[in-house]
Amino acid sequence: MRLFRKSGDKVELLALSWDSDLSLGDYLVVEESDRKILLQVIDVEYADVPGLMEDILRDLSSGSVEVTERLDPIEIESVVRSIRDSRVVVAKVRRVNGVDPNRLWLPSRYASRVRRVEVSDLLRTVIPPPKVPVRVGEGVVIDATSVEGSVTLIVGRKESGKSHLAKVLSSELARAGCNVVVLDVNGEYVSLGRRRDGEPSHVSDLMTVLAPGVNFQVPLASMSDEVLADVMTYALGLPQTSLRELLRLVRDLRRRRALTFPNLMRAVQSVPMNESVRDAVANRLLTLESTGIFTDSDQEELEVDLTSLFPPDRGALVVFDMSRLGSIQRRVFVEFLLSRMKELLFNDEIDPIVLFAEEAHLYLRETYWEDVITRMRHIGISTVLITNQPDSIPALIYRQADNVFMFNIRNGSDIEHLARNLEIDPETLRSILPNLPPGNVLAWGKAVGRLPITFRVIDPGTMTLGTTRTKLGRLLRQS
Ligand SMILES: Nc1ncnc2c1ncn2[C@@H]1O[C@H](COP(=O)(O)OP(=O)(O)O)[C@@H](O)[C@H]1O
Ligand SMILES: [Mg+2]
Repeated sequence: MRLFRKSGDKVELLALSWDSDLSLGDYLVVEESDRKILLQVIDVEYADVPGLMEDILRDLSSGSVEVTERLDPIEIESVVRSIRDSRVVVAKVRRVNGVDPNRLWLPSRYASRVRRVEVSDLLRTVIPPPKVPVRVGEGVVIDATSVEGSVTLIVGRKESGKSHLAKVLSSELARAGCNVVVLDVNGEYVSLGRRRDGEPSHVSDLMTVLAPGVNFQVPLASMSDEVLADVMTYALGLPQTSLRELLRLVRDLRRRRALTFPNLMRAVQSVPMNESVRDAVANRLLTLESTGIFTDSDQEELEVDLTSLFPPDRGALVVFDMSRLGSIQRRVFVEFLLSRMKELLFNDEIDPIVLFAEEAHLYLRETYWEDVITRMRHIGISTVLITNQPDSIPALIYRQADNVFMFNIRNGSDIEHLARNLEIDPETLRSILPNLPPGNVLAWGKAVGRLPITFRVIDPGTMTLGTTRTKLGRLLRQS
């Protein structure tokens, strides 16, 4: 390959058909003495072969002509054909090394050398040796410390491999020692404890699966005023004046060790208060009770102590299976969980958490987004958001995101949304994203040295079943 043309950060290289065996997203280094330019391939086109181009191509192919002439004269024809069939490789400048940034320097078209660099070699030069290595792709090892404490986004269309990566990341982070919490909307992480062959997987010992309302319930009396207030305000929209009345009754019953749903309801009905406040409070209490997540009795077997799920000496993978919850239950449960985790983190009762949230716009309130990037990570909750609707994540979050993993996206307006909000040039996104095969990702951010890097996500062989359950699928598996 030879350099041909440059305009702005876009570079065109000429390649003969046999050395243009490149994939979108591949990296090339152009070297001239100790100066280097790092390029990323974003397109390959056929070359028009007029004067100048032909000249360069002749120079490039002269070596091969000599050899082939001697060995097999007929091969000449293939050289000529190859020149006509040559390609223009379009690439973007990613880094320039060994050059004073104020000097205008272009490598020589004839004297510079172009070679390909493997992603694994490239990563070694752009990120420090991982303190806690996590293997996510063939030869792609990232540092767990660049995900814990960060905001990470995983976007892409349906069936493109987002959840698969989230499963790899969540298991590997737990194995590395992180406290991982998964909000599993489709009940698809529950099988991470088993391999496809049915044997226990490498995370089965670290894993707990909890279904709210089934094997996870919370005694009403165990909830602090703060947590109850968060659930009432943010999940159920109880106005502040009504909340004050409710908390007054709650505190009174708590003092008398009689905080149960029936007692609370009786108090709401009998204590003098504004009728509309009474209605508002009674309504929310009924809804809260009907979720089945909160109980009166101290049924010990269902009461799960969150602190015990996160032992200080090893990692944990806690999956909340929300697949059987309706939308209100989901909101109530998530609000409870986040509020309770904040409380535990604030009191230093648990170590920081990495929260994996699929399709978070379905159950997280609007203001949570600002919380994610401002307060949450300081409190100790780092978030991995996974969605097939890139525009459901506000611009604010994209601009603050530390890592973004992008899978195949064909929808033009989704790509533009990413292009507007990420520090990656739109051309790169437009050319790479629609062409990514399933399971392949374009990663960018702290974890990959702020270079856009493409790779295929590894398949660790755990039972990472997809989301869609069908009867035909079951019959086919049985036959
Ligand atoms: N890197 C990969 N290696 C092997 N199988 C994969 C890979 N990525 C995805 N798959 C499989 O492809 C299907 C769709 O992937 P999934 O992650 O569920 O898609 P999404 O969450 O984007 O809708 C699943 O059955 C999954 O197991
Ligand atoms: Mg998915």
